[in-house]
Formats: sequence, structure tokens, C-alpha cells
Amino acid sequence: MPAVFADLDTGVDDAMALVYLLACEEVDLVGIASTAGNVSAHQVCHNNLALLELCGVSGVPVSLGSEQPLSIPLRTAEDTHGPAGLGYAELAAPSTEATSYDAAQAWIRAAHAHPGELIGLVTGPLTSLALALRADPELPQLLRRLVIMGGSFDYRGNTSPVTEWNIHVDPEAAAEVFAAFGRHAEHASELPLVCGLNITESIVLTPQILARLATAAGAETHTMGPDDDLGRRSTATNPLIRVLEDAMRFYFEFHFRQGEGYLAHLHDPFAAAVALDPTLVTARPATIDVELHGTLTRGMTVADMAGHWGREPNAAVVTSGAPHTTRPLAEVFFDHYIERVGPFLQRLS
Ligand code: RIB
Ligand code: CA
Repeated sequence: MPAVFADLDTGVDDAMALVYLLACEEVDLVGIASTAGNVSAHQVCHNNLALLELCGVSGVPVSLGSEQPLSIPLRTAEDTHGPAGLGYAELAAPSTEATSYDAAQAWIRAAHAHPGELIGLVTGPLTSLALALRADPELPQLLRRLVIMGGSFDYRGNTSPVTEWNIHVDPEAAAEVFAAFGRHAEHASELPLVCGLNITESIVLTPQILARLATAAGAETHTMGPDDDLGRRSTATNPLIRVLEDAMRFYFEFHFRQGEGYLAHLHDPFAAAVALDPTLVTARPATIDVELHGTLTRGMTVADMAGHWGREPNAAVVTSGAPHTTRPLAEVFFDHYIERVGPFLQRLS
């Protein structure tokens, strides 16, 4: 039963990732770090606690991360994820509280409690992991695997022309994390797997696919569309489907306003699936570093896959689906996601 530590900036797609991890019965979710990003760290923590309770899960410690990135003011994304980070969804206030120790300490505790076995997943800024590495530089050697949703490789940005949100929010943290894992690369059983926009923007959720999830949960629902009234609330016959649909509608509306279509990219659930099964994808070893001083490019992830810098690879960039498979990666992923999450949600109804 793999021990997984999830570092989230719970927002809409982070929530979909958390529900996926909870639905995977083989996963031992040993802790959650709440890192500031899509919304404030306190709001992220509230969302994580509330989602666990909504899913009927207890005993998973949730820790609060730093309210600010390492060295710049926090930028949040309520326009994308909604005022509380979960779109139009309104969750009951959690009856549980965060741990007394912070998110950085939570990383360290989880790694030492599961030495060599812990799978780390980061789907938000790397602030908490960077602080953990400052406190415990040997942490990389304690991880079995690290998967990061972040960056963009040979592809555009989503926050500036060249930067991806999780890195853009805290570039210094990302640079410190990649440098730290570079120092341990020769001892690592696996290089950190990095899921950038180049692959995650191929994981396109449509209202029709979301309706498939409702069906798999045994729920009746309305298949959303751009002609719906803005903010129309879900009437699905399953309480968790209602939450996920209300959250996702805000995300669909954001991308529709951006001219990208009435859709959403499931960045974080995809990274979570890769964390549990790296054979889903193909990845290329690279030396990743983060531009910190560029006037136009600050926060850009740069991957050297050809040894130009003479530095050992510190990561593996996910570039495509599994070798020798002809099915589109998004199709493989959504079938897998729905197969896992649908029955889980049905059991909660
Ligand atoms: O750029 C996409 C990433 O930024 C996702 O993790 C999303 O949740 C936001 O945090
Ligand atoms: Ca996220």
C-alpha cells in the first residue's frame, strides 16, 4: 500500500486530485500540505479539511503552509478557481483542524515515518517543499518518488507567455527544489517526474466527460454547456458530484471567457495518476532550472535535455503517454479516473 504525501494549493483541479487519491483504495494518504497558491494557505487548508470530511475520511493530517512564497508577495487566482478556491461549490465548515506543526514539518515527518517508501506529489507552488528541504537537506533520499505538476517545456505558459502558475507563484522555491534534487540525483531510485503544461493541457475535461463521472457514480445530472446561466448550480442526485460540478462549472466558465472553450485542463489529477503509476507516461531525463532574473522570463522553467550545461539530470520531464500505446493519453487517463472515482462517489451517496 504506497504511502502518499500530497502537497496541494486546493483549487478546483487539486480537489479533483484529492478525491482521486481518496478513491484509490491501495493508497495510504499519510498527509496533506496546504500551500498558498490558487487561494491563501488558510483557505487551501480549510478546503482540504472540508473535502476530507465530505468524503467521509478521517485520520489524514492536514498541515498549514506558509502564507507567503519564499521571497515575493503571494499572488492568488480567485478569477480561475473562485473566491474560496472551489468555484461555486460551498462546503460545510470542517469540524477538524490543521496539525500543530506546519506543512514543511509535515513533509519531514512523513518522509522519516516512511523512509524510502514515500511518494510525494506537489500540485501547487513548491514553497512548502522548499522550506522542508531547507530544514532537512537529506529529504530527497527518503522519498521513493516525487511527482510535480509544474512548469512548461517546449510549450507556452499559462500565467505569463513563458511561465506556468505553480512555478510563477514561487520561482525561488522551485529553483531550490530542483537544485536540491540535483544534489541527490545519483542516489535517487527515480528522478522527480515533472508534469508540465506541455502534457497536462492535453488532459482536457469536457462537460460530456464530467457527465460520464456522474453516471459512473449512479447519479442523474445535467450535462453543462456554455448556454447555461452563469453559476447554475448542479442538481445531480449525488452530493459529491454536486460539489465537483459546482466547482468545475466555475473552471469551465473561466476557460470559456479566455477563449479556450467550455472545458478545463485536469493538471493535478493527471499528476496524481502519474504519481501512482509512472508507467502511464514517457519521460525524458533533464536538468531543470528556473529563470529568476529575466525581465520577460522570470519564473520560466528551462530543461536541458542535451547536457549543454554539463550538469547531471535532476528530473524527468513527462513528454507523452506510455510507449507502444496507440490510445490518446487523455482517453486512457479519463477512463482510469472515472473507473476509480465513480464507484467511490457512489458509495458516498
Ligand atoms: O498551472 C496549473 C496549476 O496551477 C494547477 O496545479 C492548478 O491547480 C494551479 O495551481
Ligand atoms: Ca494546483
